[in-house]
Formats: sequence, structure tokens, C-alpha cells
Amino acid sequence: MKNIHWYPGHMAKSTRAIEKDLKLVDLIIELLDARIPFASKNLALDEITNKPRIILLNKADMADDIETKKWQHYFEQQGKPVVLVNSLKGEGFSKITQAAANLMKDRNARLKARGRIFTPTRAMIVGIPNVGKSTLINKYVKKSIAKTANKPGVTRHNQWIKINKEFELLDTPGILPTKLDEKSGQRLAISGAVIDHVLDIYELSIILIPFLQERYCGVLKSRYDIEENLSPEHTLNAIAESKKLLQKGATLDITRAANLLIDDFRNLRLNRITLETPEDIEKEREEIENNSKV
Ligand code: G4P
Repeated sequence: MKNIHWYPGHMAKSTRAIEKDLKLVDLIIELLDARIPFASKNLALDEITNKPRIILLNKADMADDIETKKWQHYFEQQGKPVVLVNSLKGEGFSKITQAAANLMKDRNARLKARGRIFTPTRAMIVGIPNVGKSTLINKYVKKSIAKTANKPGVTRHNQWIKINKEFELLDTPGILPTKLDEKSGQRLAISGAVIDHVLDIYELSIILIPFLQERYCGVLKSRYDIEENLSPEHTLNAIAESKKLLQKGATLDITRAANLLIDDFRNLRLNRITLETPEDIEKEREEIENNSKV
């Protein structure tokens, strides 16, 4: 697969902008895509801060529940609380405030012991583009305001959103640059996190087909009524045939078949699928280490 370049210039500045905003907050809410928790993670965040952090596995409604549980365990083992959310529906939101309160318990107790005036916990949401930051903030604000509508002060002022008397959210999310390694790039591209015109949908479909055949056996058969054990190229042919995707001269239109497959994946028509597991990441890390030794 050719190199994918989707690193716009303004992204380089975004890490610096986040560093500035980090000074304003006590807590970071790191938003990841539950279908690709590692590919949607920006490792630079770990380098620029060690502030308390909650991991949100967003788009949990699109991911495979079994794999999501594994990812939850993976991050919790690193001492990071995890909340599964569906930002479109607001599912899991009450657990965010709860997790924040737990994380800040010691800090608040210390402040109290020193007789300091209590200040609400301030948090900031960070994540790569398309992971769902704006959807989450908008929905979170609406939900919180709806719940506490009869109380004064639950309005946007300055750049803080007052979620409740103990918790405030910075209303501008921190946008982290997207990862650039090959595997992450492919998974981000398949999930739709990066702009389509820089990608070759055909090549993405050629990567996705064997993955589906191996991990989600039966999905291709039930969606397109085709054989499961074909090569990726033959699978595209079979999809085109089954869905009557023809081009001029009545030959099968492979490009449209590839587009259909990727579009079906992105729109949940292939069912809930996770593109990487903690074991995959571990294996890939080992492979890279071994290759660098050779
Ligand atoms: P960003 O601010 O981090 O860049 O992401 P944004 O909120 O714009 O979300 C990117 C896309 O992901 C949007 O879809 C949004 O609806 C979708 N999305 C966000 N959170 C969830 C979730 O928990 N579950 C599901 N299923 N989808 C989610 P879009 O098609 O690009 O835009 P739109 O047509 O929905 O507005």
C-alpha cells in the first residue's frame, strides 16, 4: 500500500496548543475509537502530560463487545479508568462524572485538609479528528443542562461548561495529530477517520476482506450472499456479481464493490466489528522489534 499523507500543517501546532490548555485542567478525558483504540491513540499525549486521565472508548455501539471488554481491561491494567460511551445517544455519560470524582478524591481530600476552598475539577477532552469530540461535548452539555435545568449557573460562560458543581469541562477540545504508522494508518482509513480522497478504497478493501474472513467469519456471506473462502480480488468480483454492480460493457465494477464494502463497514451494515485487539498490538510491536534487530 502506498504511503498515506494526511498530516496537514496545522496538526503540528495542535500538540503545542494542547500543552498550553493542559495547564488549565486537573484531568484529561482521552477519547478513543472503540473499534481502533490503539490506532486512534496519540502517543505524544503520554509524553506531554502525566495528569490524571480517563479513557473513553467512544463509538462503543459500533465495536465488538467482547473486544471492547479486552481493551477496557488492557487500559485499566495501566491504571487508567475506562468508560464506554456512545456519544450519539449519550450512553455511559453518567459514568464519566463518576470516574472523574473517583480520580480526584485524594486531591479534594488534601485541599479540604489544608482548609483550602473547594474548586471544581476541570477537565479537557482530547483526541484525534473524527473520534467524536464535538458530538460528545454537545451531547454531554445538552444532557447535563437538561438534568439541572432549574438550577442557575448551568450556562456556558467563558470557555468552561459547568457540568455540575464539582465538574467543569473546557468547551474546546484538544485535537491531537493522527498517527502515521502503516497499520494504524490502514485501520484509521478503513474506519473512516481520514479523508477519502487521499486513500485508495480498493486497497483498503483488499486489507479488510481477509481480516473479516478470519475474524468475523460469516459476515461477508450473510451481507452479500457470497462464498467466504475466496481471495480478496475474487471476493470483490463476487460482491459485484451478487449486487449487480456493472460498468460499461456489462463487466463487473470492482471499484464500486470495494466502495460498497468499505461504506457498509463504516455504516455498521456488516455488524459490530473491532479492527484491532490488544494481542494484535503486542504481536505487531514484537515484529517491529525483531525486524529492527535483523
Ligand atoms: P471530532 O469532533 O472528534 O472531529 O468528531 P465528530 O464529533 O465530528 O464525530 C465524527 C463522526 O463520528 C460523526 O459522524 C459523528 O456522528 C460520529 N460519532 C461520534 N460519536 C459517535 C458514537 O459514539 N457512535 C457512533 N455510531 N457515531 C459517533 P459523521 O458521519 O462524520 O457526521 P454526521 O453526519 O453524523 O454529523
